[in-house]
Amino acid sequence: REELLFSYKGILYPATICSPEAFRAMESFEARPDDVILAGYPKTGTNWVGQILTDLIATFEKRNQDEENHVNKEELEEFPYLEIGDAEKYERMSKLPSRRVIFTHLIPENLPRSIFKSKAKILLLLRNLKDVATSFYHFSNALSALPSYESWDDFFIAFMTGKMPWGSYFNYLSEWNKHVDDKNIMTITYEELKENQALGVKNIAAFLGLSLTEEEIQDIVERSSFQSMKKNSPKTHGALGTALFRKGGVCDWKSFFNEDQNQAMDKAFEELLAGTKLGTKLKY
Ligand code: PPS
Repeated sequence: REELLFSYKGILYPATICSPEAFRAMESFEARPDDVILAGYPKTGTNWVGQILTDLIATFEKRNQDEENHVNKEELEEFPYLEIGDAEKYERMSKLPSRRVIFTHLIPENLPRSIFKSKAKILLLLRNLKDVATSFYHFSNALSALPSYESWDDFFIAFMTGKMPWGSYFNYLSEWNKHVDDKNIMTITYEELKENQALGVKNIAAFLGLSLTEEEIQDIVERSSFQSMKKNSPKTHGALGTALFRKGGVCDWKSFFNEDQNQAMDKAFEELLAGTKLGTKLKY
């Protein structure tokens, strides 16, 4: 299992899609003030909120751009995760037109400094730890780039000890907790978005400074529903789609956690996160 992973600055990453060379090259990545950084631990809903962000920006630009200056963004696309790709990725990214939407699962400490210096907006996405664990378990066993686990119990130990790709979610939250009060950061939870998607989309639009009509918002909500994204996934995500758009709900963890595991996670949460600002935002 360990062969699939390498360690960089104390955190494990999958070796077939990330590399130390690319991580080093990433340090010189230049963020722009109008970049939107979507930060979230794996399985917190990155693709969902990524779709919303991209659609919000595209809708706004389409309305406000004249035909002549229109850039075909699709031709210039780059895999949106900052830390996934080769060392030349950052050179290619420097040629992408604004506004760029960049996904990352990294802790702030491991992000290029320019992201914080540039005042790029950061949308921090959170999701209930138990649902993240459940989603991550299924995704790990479906994807060859990630270690697979013989049983849920096996995975649970890896999740609790953080010996897994992108490290511990507990540590991730503690590290991001140091930035919750930064001016350019907004947090959103998977659960609040699930409860009222239109409101979530409006809040994100306001954070980006985009004014859209009620109708435009409704269209974005429809295009980013779990059903629409799952249906479109052969086109947008290829073979990965089936594993990625799994259930798209809350509380699926109840079918996997036994009582001991439930208590162990509650205890860890109490000890590490309960008193923190991010801890109180997490629907637990
Ligand atoms: S990844 O691979 O880390 O980038 O995965 P990520 O996109 O962060 O998270 C995948 C989970 O998000 C769910 N998802 C959605 N939920 C609700 N609505 C929409 N539109 C949506 N799109 C993706 C996806 O189903 C994964 O959660 P689980 O619980 O496994 O279904």
